[in-house]
Amino acid sequence: MSTVNSILILPIFFAVLILANEIKYKAIFDSCITSESATIKDLETIFSGVLPETRSEKCVAACLSERFGAMVDNQLSYDGLKKNLIEQTNNETKALDIADQMFERCGNITDTDRCEAASKIHTCLYELSHLC
Ligand SMILES: *[C@@H]1O[C@H](CO)[C@@H](O)[C@H](O)[C@H]1NC(C)=O
Ligand SMILES: *[C@@H]1O[C@H](CO)[C@@H](O)[C@H](O)[C@H]1NC(C)=O
Repeated sequence: MSTVNSILILPIFFAVLILANEIKYKAIFDSCITSESATIKDLETIFSGVLPETRSEKCVAACLSERFGAMVDNQLSYDGLKKNLIEQTNNETKALDIADQMFERCGNITDTDRCEAASKIHTCLYELSHLC
């Protein structure tokens, strides 16, 4: 799976990074599954290219976003976004350009419920996946 293709099909913008380092991040996966009362199936679903729909899928997405620094206080984090995009694209100029556009469109999205916030943010980022 090439980087570009995976970004296009995966709603979570840092998914490529995560999948490439699956073993390294296993502890985070396990802890999110536990803390959100979710299952491995929920994780697989959100990595399979569809947006989170069920409550447990949305909450696992929230937990991963928080743990990877992409969502802070139920909002997209510019710094987290930038850091993940730099690692993913290996090109700081390109990463900053994408981060700016994503933040402009999705940076104000929030919800008092962290799982709903993550779901809305991922939906917004998904619509911008062509940038990557
Ligand atoms: C980095 O991205 C910029 C902007 O997209 C592009 O012009 C440049 O060629 C890229 N650099 C490398 C080394 O790929
Ligand atoms: C986001 O919110 C900030 C402050 O609340 C505001 O200054 C900014 O214009 C908003 N951005 C968008 C794209 O709505």
